[in-house]
Parts: sequence; structure tokens; C-alpha cells
Amino acid sequence: MKQTRQPIISVLGHVDHGKTMLLDHIRGTRVAEHEAGGITQHIGATEIPIETIRKVCGGLLEKLHLKITLRGLLFVDTPGHEAFTNLRKRGGSVADLAILVIDLNEGLMPQTIEAIQILKGHKTPFVVAANKIDKITGWRLNTPPDEQIAHVKEEFYKRFYKLVSDLSEQGFNADLYSNVRDFTKMVAIIPTSAKTGNGVPELLMVLIGLAQQYMGKQLVVSLDTPGRGVVLEVKEERGLGTTIDTIIYDGRLRKGDTLVVGAKEPIVTSARALLNPENVDEVFAASGIKIVAQGLGEALSGAPVYVVDPEFADIGYYMKTFNLDIYFLKKLEKIKSREVRKERLTEKLKEVVRKEVTGIEIVSDVSGVIIKADTIGSLEAIIKILSDHKVPIRKGTVGNVVKEDVIEADAVGTEKPLLGVIFAFNTPVSNAARELIHDKGLKIFESNIIYTLLEDYDLWVKEEKEKVKKTHLITPCKIELLPKCIFRNSGPAIVGVEVLAGVLKTGYRLMNDGGKVIGRVKEIQEKKEKIKEAKKRDQVAVSIQGGAVGRNLNEGDVLYSFISFEDAEKLIDAELDDDELEVFGEIKKIKRTK
Ligand code: GTP
Ligand code: MG
Repeated sequence: MKQTRQPIISVLGHVDHGKTMLLDHIRGTRVAEHEAGGITQHIGATEIPIETIRKVCGGLLEKLHLKITLRGLLFVDTPGHEAFTNLRKRGGSVADLAILVIDLNEGLMPQTIEAIQILKGHKTPFVVAANKIDKITGWRLNTPPDEQIAHVKEEFYKRFYKLVSDLSEQGFNADLYSNVRDFTKMVAIIPTSAKTGNGVPELLMVLIGLAQQYMGKQLVVSLDTPGRGVVLEVKEERGLGTTIDTIIYDGRLRKGDTLVVGAKEPIVTSARALLNPENVDEVFAASGIKIVAQGLGEALSGAPVYVVDPEFADIGYYMKTFNLDIYFLKKLEKIKSREVRKERLTEKLKEVVRKEVTGIEIVSDVSGVIIKADTIGSLEAIIKILSDHKVPIRKGTVGNVVKEDVIEADAVGTEKPLLGVIFAFNTPVSNAARELIHDKGLKIFESNIIYTLLEDYDLWVKEEKEKVKKTHLITPCKIELLPKCIFRNSGPAIVGVEVLAGVLKTGYRLMNDGGKVIGRVKEIQEKKEKIKEAKKRDQVAVSIQGGAVGRNLNEGDVLYSFISFEDAEKLIDAELDDDELEVFGEIKKIKRTK
């Protein structure tokens, strides 16, 4: 039997932009009304039945002549950005649609951009809730932007156009929902206030319209196919042990069903209880459900959950859904014993799950970075984003950062310093690993925002390159030979100098103000201590290989660092201070005159 399931809608956006409050508002309306058969507060997901939507939308429905055929909407409600990155399944995202919540007053923030990148990656259609419009002083509730008084309207559009242009920079055309004709080409922006509920009916309407018009087929599911789902969260519950909050996006799940659950080594178990949060005997897609079962300790959030049903024998289904081999399926069909059939099918699905879990992980011997992430979904997202940025990856696995990771990064780092780093995405770092990182002077990037990891890494790479450049670069420098400070006449000459501008470094060649090369700085000493460099106003002793007092060196001489044409090229994008720039000018002039 077929049925159209509710669309799964994930709510995402930057911290504090109002995701939870928006959902609370949708839920709250119902709870406040104390309606019978009210909202089922599913675990990890919130089911909003169609009657609630009808209530919330009220007159809007009639006005739009929109006929609702959907049963409701299933909002995915786990905290933070995790919700979304976890929501993966074979070949895409579990979410059919998404609401990207953006505080209109703040605009696009790091997590917003990250969310957009993930949405793009999965090709998930989304709408934007331009939230907190009530914060615009003078905003009149339940009034479209164009009907607000002049200065309020102006304030709104200032923010709105900034949002539209920022979205366009991310590759999306967007406009006010009322102006959107083709929702497949334009992202609809719905101004909302999660605080007052302003815009919420419109938001729901747009979502329903989108789902009904564009994803009819995608939402048709069978009620008798074996359930398929994805683990949202792995949770310890008192008295129940480890449980998994799961979204079932296809088929049916019954109490007692045999399950294959994603872990490093797939878990085979049976569903002891299904909580939603009341005990239920079966659920159909789409729903959020807490599964109580034995042996879930190693389950991974973001991993698949598949029901093994030996009674279900549709060869076409298995081929299409799991890509199973037709010969295997034909053979399976002929097996009389239910137990044996179940065993074979379980083994096959374990293989599928193993591939799905480890297929995302990367273990290689290339010179590249090490990634550790908390979930498969986030690992997948971070691998994708780093690959898009052409950052080579040596290893990307789910789990904590341990000592072995550090040893590996260190080995990479000895050859490729910029790649000998660790990315820890929302995952703990063991004490031993932390110590070793410190001892080896390695770099670890830790965050629960992928975008931030990348940004921090880019910045660090830039700084490192700058450092390398600085040490290998000959920078403009000007020194003066101090009177009565000749310590040795030649071979090498040792003289006292004062740095007038820039930094004098060992190894620099020096030229006089006529452009003639005098010699190379062999050593710099300050108070009899050898130092690598001397800065402006330092008075130091310098030994100059090639210099000979009385011949090419005299008290009071002004000398410059000799900068070749190639080195001068490199200086163009080095960050020189004003003094150095001035000296650079003098050096160029001297060379030109010469
Ligand atoms: P995280 O779960 O931490 O990522 O945040 P969130 O996006 O779920 O934000 P949440 O809904 O918790 O709201 C954050 C803060 O913004 C709360 O103090 C809300 O009261 C406030 N807030 C949310 N929406 C609105 C709004 O439309 N108007 C106003 N004035 N405040 C809002
Ligand atoms: Mg929240």
C-alpha cells in the first residue's frame, strides 16, 4: 500500500537566529489551544499535523485557494547545526526541504554560510525565514513590508537587499516569497518574527506549496516495505541503556524487528521498544522515534538503520534501494527456511551498511591533513568542503583525536609543514594527544563549525607562508657605520653599526650608497652575544665577509641591504612598514642611477 508521507524539513541557521523559537511558535500555538489529538512531540523531530497547520494558517488558505493534500510536516529539531549534517542517507539528504533561519538584522553568519554550502551540496530546496523583523523599530505586525510606514519600509529593504545580495554571492537568486513565480529557480524569503508569530502562516504555506507542487513523487512511500532510517542521536537513557533517536524516512518499523544499525562494525539487534515518547508497536514513514535495543553502544549518529524483513521479497525493491545483486536475490527467494533467509539478508545488509559508513571515511597514505569528526554526516560534509578547497586529506574518520593521529600528522608535517595538521570537528581530543600536539608544536583546529575550521586553516596557512617568506626574504634595511667602532679591518671586517631602518639579518649582502656591493653579513653580535637580526636603533657589531676598512668601508658610511631584482619582485606583496618602504625606495633609486 502506498501513501504520501510528510515532507521532512530541517531547520537550520546560525546560533541564536531563532530556529528553536520558530519551531516553538508553531508547536506552541497548538499546545496553547489544548486541542485533542494535538501535536505529537516526536523525539528528535516534531510532527505538525495538517489540522494544526490549517489552524495556524487560517484565512490565508482560503485567500490562496490552496488545497492541502499533505498529512502534515515533520520538522527536524535536534540542537544546533548537527541536525543537518547528520541528516544524510544513501545518495543525498534525508531532508526534503529546509528552512534557513537568518536574523535579518545580522544577515549571513558563519553557520548560515556553512548551512548554505551543505544545502547546495545535497541540492536540498530551501526557503529563508528572514527572522526577528519585530526588531525593526516601528514594524507593524501582520503587515507586508510595502505597507509599512515609509522609514520602516526603508529600514526593512536596506536589510533585505543586503540579504539578497549576500545570498546571490553564495550562488542563489532570492526574492520576497510574494514575488517568486518559479520556486525551483528562486529562493523565497519570508519575513518572520518567531517572537510574535508574524509570517509563520506564510512560511508554512510556502513550505506546503513547495512540497505539494514539486516533490509529490519523492514523498510517496510504501507502508509495507522494510523501514529505513537514519540515526539522529545516540543517547544513554536511564533504565534503557543506549538508545537511538531515529528518523524513519521510508517504510515501516515494528517492535521486534531485526535491525542493522550503522557503526564501525555494523550492529545487528532487534527493536525492543519504540518510544515516540509513548510506547508504540509500529511506526510508518516519516516519523521520529526512539529505538530501545541491545548493543547500541557503538552506534554512530548519522548512520543508517535498516529493518531486515525476511518476509519481504520484492527483488526490484532490493535492487533499486540497496543495489543488491539479482543472483543473490533469486537465490534468496528459493530458500525455504525463514531463519536462513533472514541470516543471509542480514549479512547482505551489514555489508551495505559497512560500505556506507566506511565508504565515507578516508584512510590513505597521501601527504595530507588528518580529520576527526563526531558523526558520519559531519565527516562527509567536512571532507567535501576541504576537497572543494583542494586541501589533500590523508585520513578522515569518525572518533576522538588520539595519539596515533598526532604521530601521523607529525610525520606528514616533517615533509609538508602546511599539511601536518589535525582538524577536530566537534569531537574530543584525548589528553595524551593534546600533550603530544603541544610537545611537537603541531597545529590542531577545533570547532563545531566546519566553515570556521576552514577559515582558521586558511588564515594559518597565510600566516605561515608569510613567515617563511619573511625569513627567506631580503627586506630593505639601512645601517650606518659608527665612529670609532672598528674592531677588525678585514677578513672579515668587524665594525660597529646602528640600524637606521628595517631589520638587519645574518646573510644579507650589503651595498653602499653608490650601489656597490661591499660584502655579506656573516655574524651579528650584541653585547658579545650572537644574534640573528638587529632592528631599528639597535647598535651592534657586524662581521662583513668581503668588507675591508679603508678600502670599501669607512666610518660614517651608510649601507643598504642588497636586493636583487627577483627579491624585489617578492617584496611586492610582503607587508613592509613605512620605514622599510622608504628605504626600499632609496635602494631602487640607487640601483637605477647605477
Ligand atoms: P541555537 O539553538 O542556539 O542555535 O539558537 P536558535 O537559532 O534556536 O535561537 P533561539 O530560537 O533559541 O533564539 C535565540 C534568541 O533570540 C532568544 O533569546 C529568542 O528569544 C530570540 N529570538 C528568536 N526569534 C526572535 C524574533 O523573531 N524576534 C525577537 N525579538 N527575538 C527573537
Ligand atoms: Mg535552538
